[in-house]
Amino acid sequence: MNVLVTGGTGYIGSHTCVELINAGHKPIVLDNLCNSNPESLNRVREITGEEVPFIEGDVCNEKLLHEIFSRHSIDCVIHFAGLKAVGESVAKPLEYYQNNLGSTMSLCRVMGAHNVKKIIFSSSATVYSGDNEMPLRETSKTGNCTNPYGWTKYMCEQILRDVAKADPEWSVVLLRYFNPVGAHKSGLIGEHPNGIPNNLMPYISQTAIGKRDHLSVYGNDYDTPDGTGVRDYIHVVDLARGHVAAANYMMNHKGESVFNLGTGHGYSVLDMVHAFEEANGVKVPYEIAPRRPGDLATCYADPTKSREVLGWGAEFNQVDMCRDTWNWQSKNPNGYDE
Ligand code: NAD
Ligand code: UFG
Repeated sequence: MNVLVTGGTGYIGSHTCVELINAGHKPIVLDNLCNSNPESLNRVREITGEEVPFIEGDVCNEKLLHEIFSRHSIDCVIHFAGLKAVGESVAKPLEYYQNNLGSTMSLCRVMGAHNVKKIIFSSSATVYSGDNEMPLRETSKTGNCTNPYGWTKYMCEQILRDVAKADPEWSVVLLRYFNPVGAHKSGLIGEHPNGIPNNLMPYISQTAIGKRDHLSVYGNDYDTPDGTGVRDYIHVVDLARGHVAAANYMMNHKGESVFNLGTGHGYSVLDMVHAFEEANGVKVPYEIAPRRPGDLATCYADPTKSREVLGWGAEFNQVDMCRDTWNWQSKNPNGYDE
């Protein structure tokens, strides 16, 4: 299959290019590099031996999209492109709504015009309402998002659902990611957030390498086994393979479907800190800090539907996640910038 991968130079996109190539598919990447470095695709070539065609540009640019669909024979699209920083979305809501909804609508319009009607969308566990029981199933309640970023995912899901409803030729797969972490085992590609990391794993690895003084653990008085927040961390290579499974599924299924991509296991912040120290023989100094506004105590997936329908399940464990994060971090302390 020829797969247009929007946002394909980014963290999850670059890992998905590797897994698409490993499965015999041909990714073509469109990215405006607003949060990534095209060096990631050189690394993809190093890993796979395949050159990935790269177009630098914005998914909101419909003229460019028309050119791409005219020039390449595209079978389906994986739409990763989007802005994803929760805090920034609170400060710049219009930028988030414009970019995340605008790109999704432009893409669907142009896809429809070129009769390419298969799309996989990067959604998030953040679309689930905070008052659900755990584990979260695809049928659990959605909405009540706590920030504009979450609402963009919720609204894009609705837009895509309506597109599939209006034209039964469409196949729309909504993938709700839990907490992606880790890196390719080569240490050639991985996650390098700009500035101070918001997410736990990059903060842990930057603390271990000495870039940060200590980790602040946001709250130790939650109703969890050790009082710290519990999440469903999933290795990014497993997540990437979930996209390959979803692309295969789309070839024979029309309409809208939604799948959780998580492991089904929850680990606390302190579990992750101790697992990281043990797996890598490093120290991660931490201090207990106040709760972070908007955080839930616990969030983890029921991945049964993905296993039964897509035939996909996570294969990497917590030690793999910690080891591969550190391998990437220690080999690329400044990300792709060296
Ligand atoms: P990332 O920032 O590394 O990748 C996103 C890519 O999209 C970047 O390369 C960026 O330059 C590009 N981009 C953004 N807007 C664009 C536009 N208008 N046109 C072209 N390119 C554009 O992020 P990621 O972690 O790889 O996330 C990929 C997707 O998965 C995002 O949609 C994100 O919201 C979603 N997601 C991520 C997580 C997570 O924790 N990483 C969790 C749930 C969902
Ligand atoms: N945490 C700390 N210290 C830090 C960072 C995080 O203690 O410096 C804690 C948080 O309080 C939480 C856990 O670590 O208990 C995980 O936090 P992350 O920020 O890594 O992840 P979240 O679960 O808050 O959110 C992530 C993405 C969202 C996405 C969501 C669900 O950032 O974009 O997963 O997929 F929506």
